[in-house]
Amino acid sequence: MIYLNGQYMPIEEAKVPVLDRGFIFGDGVYEVIPVYSRRAFRLDEHLGRLKHSLDGIRLANPHRNEEWVSILNAVIAGNAPDDQSLYLHITRGVAKRDHAFPVPPVAPTVFVMSNPLTTPPASLLDSGISAVTATDNRWLRCDIKAISLLPNVLLRQMAIDAGCAETLLMRDNEFLTEGAASNVFVVKNGVLLAPPKDNLMLPGITYDVILEIASASGIPHEVRRISVAEVFEADELLLTSSTREVLAITRVDGKHVGAGIPGPMFRRMHALYQDYKHNVMRAK
Ligand code: PDD
Repeated sequence: MIYLNGQYMPIEEAKVPVLDRGFIFGDGVYEVIPVYSRRAFRLDEHLGRLKHSLDGIRLANPHRNEEWVSILNAVIAGNAPDDQSLYLHITRGVAKRDHAFPVPPVAPTVFVMSNPLTTPPASLLDSGISAVTATDNRWLRCDIKAISLLPNVLLRQMAIDAGCAETLLMRDNEFLTEGAASNVFVVKNGVLLAPPKDNLMLPGITYDVILEIASASGIPHEVRRISVAEVFEADELLLTSSTREVLAITRVDGKHVGAGIPGPMFRRMHALYQDYKHNVMRAK
């Protein structure tokens, strides 16, 4: 069961007009929210980031947070799995094709769907994943979770074409920003390094959890620019996202990262993340 513009229905019945600005221009924003044991993970933070994205594209938030909570809870209740991945999508609505915002404004299109949450299998946790690197050729507002994802799609496909799982993005061939659909951490000499949350990367909710867990557990960490050279000389590389949680990247551009197997920082962060999830989320 999905939600579309005030109504709940099976996804097969959901229809959006072809003049929707999401379809025509990619003019909208989205969120992906994991649900564990029927509870939306870090909902306040996801709704906060949604507001940031809406402000970034100058679109009014169509709902107050209490309304979002009831819509999301209804979608969670209308779907079978206990663990789900909610997808929330808002566009500037349906209007005659014109780049300028519609005058007077039209109602936004609001869509929420749920998919089963499939977290990485044990085999992937044991092996880690392979990645390629590419120039980050996206715009300068990567902090907005925009539905116009063509650069991310093309960048991710580079990884798939190379038999890899993710593309690590390097801005100006100088520094690491993030993955095509994930955040990336570097580990060097026992220190967890994270790129700063600026306009060049998506402020990941999982990224924040990782840094909070690192602080709480006394794991040395630093938030700062990470050079391309540091990526290639890393002892370990970690990838995070709502759906992939924490994964080790064990190969980059065909070369081993460190020892070429998931390292001690990965194992520790993964265990702490699972603890957090079970103790804070499932046991609430
Ligand atoms: N993407 N950076 C980018 C470009 C992303 O698309 C994502 C997540 C992240 C990680 O953010 P979070 O930890 O809040 O999931 C970082 C989602 C999962 C997607 O587009 O499907």
